[in-house]
Amino acid sequence: MTKRPYESLRSARWFAPDDFRSFGHRSRVLQMGYSYADWMGKPVIAIVNTWSDANQCHSHFKQRVEDVKRGVLQAGGFPLELPAISLSESMVKPTTMLYRNFLAMETEELLRSHPIDGAVLMGGCDKTTPGLTMGALSMGIPFIYLPAGPMLRGNWKGKVLGSGSDAFKYWDERRAGRLGEQAWVEMEAGIARSHGTCMTMGTAATMMGIAEAVGLTLPGASSIPAADANHIRMSADCGRRIVEMVWEDLTPAKMLTRANFENGIACAMAMGCSTNAVIHLIAMSRRAGHAVSLEDFDAFSRRVPVIANIRPSGDAYLMEDFFYAGGLPAMLERIRGHLRTEALTVNGRSIGENIEGAEVYDDDVIRPLSNPIYAEGALAVLRGNLAPDGVVIKPSACAPHLLKHTGRALVFDDYPSLKKAVEDPDLDVTGDDILVLRNAGPRGAGMPEWGMLPIPTKLLKQGVKDMLRLSDARMSGTSYGGCLLHCSPEAAVGGPLALVQTGDRITVDVPARRIHLEIDDEELARRKAAWTPPPPRYERGYGWMFGRHIRQADEGCDFDFLETSFGKPVPEPDIF
Ligand code: FES
Repeated sequence: MTKRPYESLRSARWFAPDDFRSFGHRSRVLQMGYSYADWMGKPVIAIVNTWSDANQCHSHFKQRVEDVKRGVLQAGGFPLELPAISLSESMVKPTTMLYRNFLAMETEELLRSHPIDGAVLMGGCDKTTPGLTMGALSMGIPFIYLPAGPMLRGNWKGKVLGSGSDAFKYWDERRAGRLGEQAWVEMEAGIARSHGTCMTMGTAATMMGIAEAVGLTLPGASSIPAADANHIRMSADCGRRIVEMVWEDLTPAKMLTRANFENGIACAMAMGCSTNAVIHLIAMSRRAGHAVSLEDFDAFSRRVPVIANIRPSGDAYLMEDFFYAGGLPAMLERIRGHLRTEALTVNGRSIGENIEGAEVYDDDVIRPLSNPIYAEGALAVLRGNLAPDGVVIKPSACAPHLLKHTGRALVFDDYPSLKKAVEDPDLDVTGDDILVLRNAGPRGAGMPEWGMLPIPTKLLKQGVKDMLRLSDARMSGTSYGGCLLHCSPEAAVGGPLALVQTGDRITVDVPARRIHLEIDDEELARRKAAWTPPPPRYERGYGWMFGRHIRQADEGCDFDFLETSFGKPVPEPDIF
């Protein structure tokens, strides 16, 4: 390892000079009880920790941060824990999506404003992976992402339960009157039974896997269950490695190319990823200056098969099974031919070297390419007069008969009216109709996970299990069904979705990647001229800023002023 001189570290600008301000910095570190031998001349490592009492998925981070510190100390670094907003997917209202960019800003500024040379980022619950990494990419110092890891399988009366997916499934059963209250309460106590993230291939597992494929974690880190002792050892490994990365000056700019992000897409497809991967990976790639687009996702989806048999795209297994079957390195080895194997990773080796020889131990959990779950189609991007900037669907989780379908639109302007209507036994609806929800996009509502619109109770009782549902919202990665999401431009900025009326006919053709509102251009123009924008949702505070600066879904929903192309690079803080 070629070691850069201590004087070139950022932290040396705080601690090394013989001046008044540095006297203050040094005396205050001494105030905390650290002797000079603990920190002088050593890289300072931030451990950005998204632990809080309000995030169930990160409840083990209080212990794990000590393991990261152990590794940092062993390697001759000085660890500092910096807490950041924890963003529990299940606790935060109205949606964590409103705060992903908040976490990104917080991470970037935490790292910039403190004497930090490198960072270990601790996250996992959905938005924390993109939020932390987006901020660190913009800051540009060496970092490693430490994923929280998935929780253990759920269990109820000997049945395996998967986060989200089974909750949705059994809730529909309960609404249809086929599941009693007692069973529902028992399930509540069995579906989440250890620390760690959701253990289906939801957004958390998807984004942790993508982080590894992009090269931002140590090999194998993303699949280790949170409760496994391997996770403790991985935490210490991150601590040891980040100190080396600082001495090597292995910054994101030196490590990442477009190839890293293409690997993220290929991995997402093979995993049968959450639809949220599109928004987050686009945002991350733009922060790194290597933008990928909706077209890239669609192109990879046509050639990379879904081989991870994990719910909800798969029908049987969960992330714990995925780990026992060999985990992400084994899955990536299976799709080696679709990867840019030369792409560098945080351990200083290429992804191709990291996965060399990784074995699959269960061919039903991680399928061979010759026997995929779906030959193509983890995600598809449709365009047309209703979605000029794209709409996303997960064909692998959609009933096959809906992939080519024309139906009558049943339109709702907001979620409360939709929720009320679906319980109406007299609602004028059939399983051939297309439910439409608008004003649920980034500007309209902060883009909550409303996109798996509930199937009307009347239809559930008739045995309807899936129908087409269109919105400018997102959906949980644990959701499933014929849901057309992220319709762009969104209704709240005057996208065509704002112009659909109940009774209009909509054609969806997934194989042809087309979505079309069956009205002529003149009528569309007439409706557009009569359209008025809805009032802003927030008139002060963070929401006000969000509404003015959020980009559309096809651009990753970042704030315009945080993108790399905006303004000049932020200067290093002055010494005084
Ligand atoms: Fe944290 Fe699902 S609630 S990952």
